[in-house]
Amino acid sequence: MISQDILVVGGGLAGLAAALSSDPQLKVAVISKVHPLRSHSVAAQGGINAALGNTPDGRDDSWESHAFDTIKGSDYLADQDVAELMCEKAITAIYELEHLGVPFSRFPGGVIAQRPFGGAGFPRTCYAADRTGLVILHTLFEQSIKKQVRFYNEWLVTRLVVRDGKCLGVVVYDLTKGEIMPVKARSVIFATGGYGRVYQRTTNAYINHGSGIGIAYRGGVPLKDMEFVQFHPTSLYGKNILITEGARGEGGYLVNNKGERFMADYAPSAMELAPRDIVARAIQTEIDKGNGFEGQCLHLDLRHLGEAKIKKRLPGIREICIDFAGLDPVETPIPIQPAQHYSMGGIDVDKKCASCVEGFYAAGECACMSIHGANRLGGNSLLDTVVFGRIAGEEASNYVKECEETGDSEKILLDEALKVKRRVEEWMNKDSGEKVHKLLIRLKAIMSDKVGIFREKRDLTEALERIRALREDYKRVNISGSCLRYSQEIVNIFEFESMLDLTEVITLGALNREETRGSHFRLDFRKRNDRDWLKHTLVTWKEGEPQVSYKGVTINKYKPVERKY
Ligand code: FUM
Repeated sequence: MISQDILVVGGGLAGLAAALSSDPQLKVAVISKVHPLRSHSVAAQGGINAALGNTPDGRDDSWESHAFDTIKGSDYLADQDVAELMCEKAITAIYELEHLGVPFSRFPGGVIAQRPFGGAGFPRTCYAADRTGLVILHTLFEQSIKKQVRFYNEWLVTRLVVRDGKCLGVVVYDLTKGEIMPVKARSVIFATGGYGRVYQRTTNAYINHGSGIGIAYRGGVPLKDMEFVQFHPTSLYGKNILITEGARGEGGYLVNNKGERFMADYAPSAMELAPRDIVARAIQTEIDKGNGFEGQCLHLDLRHLGEAKIKKRLPGIREICIDFAGLDPVETPIPIQPAQHYSMGGIDVDKKCASCVEGFYAAGECACMSIHGANRLGGNSLLDTVVFGRIAGEEASNYVKECEETGDSEKILLDEALKVKRRVEEWMNKDSGEKVHKLLIRLKAIMSDKVGIFREKRDLTEALERIRALREDYKRVNISGSCLRYSQEIVNIFEFESMLDLTEVITLGALNREETRGSHFRLDFRKRNDRDWLKHTLVTWKEGEPQVSYKGVTINKYKPVERKY
């Protein structure tokens, strides 16, 4: 049986940061569903925040201002100590990335260039043109190779094995060989990313099904604040490829079909650079009012930036527009519409990335240590991955050095792997039944129609009923082929169970939360209600059902006030 000291699940930025920071004396491996360079981190465009204060006008920034912007942006649901920790560590994190070889864009004079981003009181987003995630991912991957980190690529984790509150390892489906087997680990770190593909319109990659979050939930770890789903204001109309906030940071305008810069009505000071929840709602409101193009989209106009600036700062955006929309933003405005982009909620962990299960850690988008609260600021996600990925690796290393081995863990792991094999056999032995891709289409429609940017009780109740009905259909799924190697159908069936769990948790949290906060906008409760709802939602899988509880928010410095931009 393969046995590791630390098993990192996920080959994106948080996973690689965790592997690199783990103690090199320990046996560390990364399991990834795809090759690590295909992870969704590669798609991050606009940048990574840190208070370097490199503005050409000589103004000074501070990590405290960064923390304040993050907390205000979160609509005061962030745990303030955790937001402070991230922002304080951000500055060193950027210089470390620079020293590892990340080719950041530069201001004249050579310092790392920084651009304005939404909800930030200072231009503090460091970038590499509009391919920031790509260059950081490649750099960390190179470093992982240099440090001889062991990779198991194209392996899907199907189960987290926990006994008596302690993590013993995982069960994997090795797509390359078509085998299901246990992997023993003294500590497991999940860095498995988000679940955007439960929505029809998303900027997320096809791999983002959220199964890591679902597996942790079934392993007994609560999910936190899952009702907070971020919609990015600007995805390419029709294709929903991300059009970076950096385009607005560089000076792009949002325009409706009357030629108006309508953000003046929604966020008169910040305009296009208000936080994402506000801009996404403003765009959707304009479309719903009939001020859109084709009733579906608005325009992001970059023409006034000029060809040279667009080619230098936004080359990837220009390429996407030419390839996928047949237009050049140098000459033509970009048609955009909001799309699901990020999950503020996730696996409940503390600021050491530790969960309630001994030896089990999580970092990056799959985790919720409560930094982003009800709305994440652009540029804080890449930062979260590198800061907390690193913390997860360090903390897991400390744990492994102290923990005692569980004597019968191999037997327990083999039994769990056998249960997974039996499930696959059952799916294969049915000659008829439901096809999982059809169920997925139905699930996405429910989430998009009923649990989107604007929510209300009637829709959420109906969504919950329909998701639960899909569970019954899921029991009848079958597999067409008999080959276990590279079976995408098997992957989809495993992952769909998690998608059902996650959508149930998102919807339940949204239905219960009778207020509006950050990304969660209730048409029937339009105001934030700190008296009753300044608290985190926790949902735990117990006795085959989701159980809801709440816990307080850490407010150590900034008293919640109304957000104005
Ligand atoms: O718009 C963007 O470039 C996305 C950045 C982020 O989600 O942090």
